[in-house]
Amino acid sequence: SRAPLWAALLLQILTLSHFCLDSGSFHGPKWMMEPGDLFIPLESIEEEATLTCDAKGIPPPQYRWSLNGTLINLSLDRRRRLFEGNLIISSLDRYQDGGQYQCTAFNPLGAVLSRRASLQFAFLDHFKVHTRSGVSVREGQGVVLLCGTPTSSGDLTYAWVFNEYPYFVQQDHRRFVSQKTGNLYIAKVDPSDVGNYTCVVMNSVTKGKVQSSPTSLILRSGGR
Ligand SMILES: *[C@@H]1O[C@H](CO)[C@@H](O)[C@H](O)[C@H]1NC(C)=O
Ligand SMILES: *[C@@H]1O[C@H](CO)[C@@H](O)[C@H](O)[C@H]1NC(C)=O
Ligand SMILES: *[C@@H]1O[C@H](CO)[C@@H](O)[C@H](O)[C@H]1NC(C)=O
Repeated sequence: SRAPLWAALLLQILTLSHFCLDSGSFHGPKWMMEPGDLFIPLESIEEEATLTCDAKGIPPPQYRWSLNGTLINLSLDRRRRLFEGNLIISSLDRYQDGGQYQCTAFNPLGAVLSRRASLQFAFLDHFKVHTRSGVSVREGQGVVLLCGTPTSSGDLTYAWVFNEYPYFVQQDHRRFVSQKTGNLYIAKVDPSDVGNYTCVVMNSVTKGKVQSSPTSLILRSGGR
């Protein structure tokens, strides 16, 4: 019968393919490291940014990058270069470099597409310089003082200075600073609240800080 011969051949093929896999034969790329999101302070603009990309494969993979879905042609690029799979960008530009980056690692046996990594610039503009009109409130009423946050990118935190630095408004059962809008809420206004209020905005990414011009709070007399 021929069965033993078939079996022997099959066994030999299985052993051979097993051996090939074990010894790390040709295979398509597999991720070692995909790019992560970057948030770069605008002040440090001359620095380089590195988007990481690393895959293993045999033969070793090559890499290409896309920005907002468009392939980046690195051949004549002065600001961007590859180091292994990493994309290094120098002379960062707020308008040319922000967006979604994706890395592709490829060899003749396959290609893998990385996650989308965003590169953003953090900044905080100054308040528009203008004098703020006063706000008048009746004693016992509530009032909202608007911060009027300038244009920014990155997480912000807010505080209000009362009359002069460094006297910050302390939050309590009557006073509240919204960390969403920057606005100051004062309930049941009393004479001790009269004075000038300045909104201070801090960007936790750039560590930059700007302050508004003061709003004066006055008590409205008359009525009841
Ligand atoms: C990249 O740019 C070079 C020079 O302009 C050009 O010769 C080459 O074909 C481009 N490559 C791709 C993939 O577009
Ligand atoms: C990429 O897309 C984002 C979002 O649409 C946009 O703000 C950014 O300017 C684009 N980047 C470039 C370099 O065109
Ligand atoms: C508030 O500011 C105004 C104008 O700068 C000033 O005249 C006034 O004395 C200030 N009030 C207080 C309580 O500091």
